Amino acid sequence: MNKEFEADGMVADKAIPNPGSQAADPASSPESRAAEVAATIARAAVDQADHAMRNWTDPAEGPVRIGSTEHLRMFSNMLLQTHNPYKPAVIEWPKLSPDALERVTSLPIWDIAVQTEGRASVRVHSFAGLQRDPLLRSALEMDGDEEARHKVVLSKLVEAYGITLEPEPEYLPPSDIEWGWLVTGYSECIDSFAAFGLFAAAKDSGFFPAELVETFEPVIQEEGRHILFFVNWVAWYRANLPWWRRPAFAFKVFRVWLFLIRERIGLARQIEVDENGGAQDANFPLNAAETLAESLSAGSMIDLCLTENDRRMAGYDARLLRPTTVPKLARFARRFVK
Ligand SMILES: [Fe+2]
Ligand SMILES: [Fe+2]
Repeated sequence: MNKEFEADGMVADKAIPNPGSQAADPASSPESRAAEVAATIARAAVDQADHAMRNWTDPAEGPVRIGSTEHLRMFSNMLLQTHNPYKPAVIEWPKLSPDALERVTSLPIWDIAVQTEGRASVRVHSFAGLQRDPLLRSALEMDGDEEARHKVVLSKLVEAYGITLEPEPEYLPPSDIEWGWLVTGYSECIDSFAAFGLFAAAKDSGFFPAELVETFEPVIQEEGRHILFFVNWVAWYRANLPWWRRPAFAFKVFRVWLFLIRERIGLARQIEVDENGGAQDANFPLNAAETLAESLSAGSMIDLCLTENDRRMAGYDARLLRPTTVPKLARFARRFVK
């Protein structure tokens, strides 16, 4: 994890020197030795926070029934206890070569990315406000806070690389709060799965410099935690609905998927229009996939998404459910793609 994602209250708000970069000076002053010790402690705290966000097992032993109070406690605690308290304000964005800077600034994703995080934050917070269970409410509040923090991280990135954004719309709470939560949750299941693979491809191909990839890495893992939390919430909620309300919920979920498919078709069309018109507005996974397509076949990209999805989910308690719909669809599509 990048040193700039510093753990809250544990480290100083400045870059940490690399211990290997300087030979130990026996005549160094007590102040510089103290600074070295402080830097070592700071690095350990950052590494510890990074490990903690990726690995979590509930201490209670034994099987857990999906839909039980124990299940609710488990997936809520997973989100709360794997929170990484980095501060966007202290991120030092790496200096980019002219080529890399051109690649980053010309990606037509920044407006939509910032606005997606802004909308997600309002929707998740609105849904948190409906909850009576205090643990579930605080987990949802943390989820919404993390979306707001993603927006700050993106705004800082945009500022650091001199990208100009369109004026942002007002982010209003949805009229159907549960609908807003379901749309955010399922769209994250699609977009995160794609982003896992694209992020790895961008890193391996050198499309983005390694330092930039590393600086952004915690945001991607956070989205992984969000979808893990979301699919467990859906299963818990469904299991606790009286039988006569389950068909209406299933129908609502079906409508959400239809909405998301149509939204993505619309975005794909928008990309075509933008490619001709040059306006900056597009969906991250679709557009980035196109940009990276030259370096990787569609089949290899699906394989990479699946591998990365498994890797990012591997560190969490095996008794929690994993997102399965999008990986299943991807495996199905893979049969027809070379
Ligand atoms: Fe986010
Ligand atoms: Fe998220």
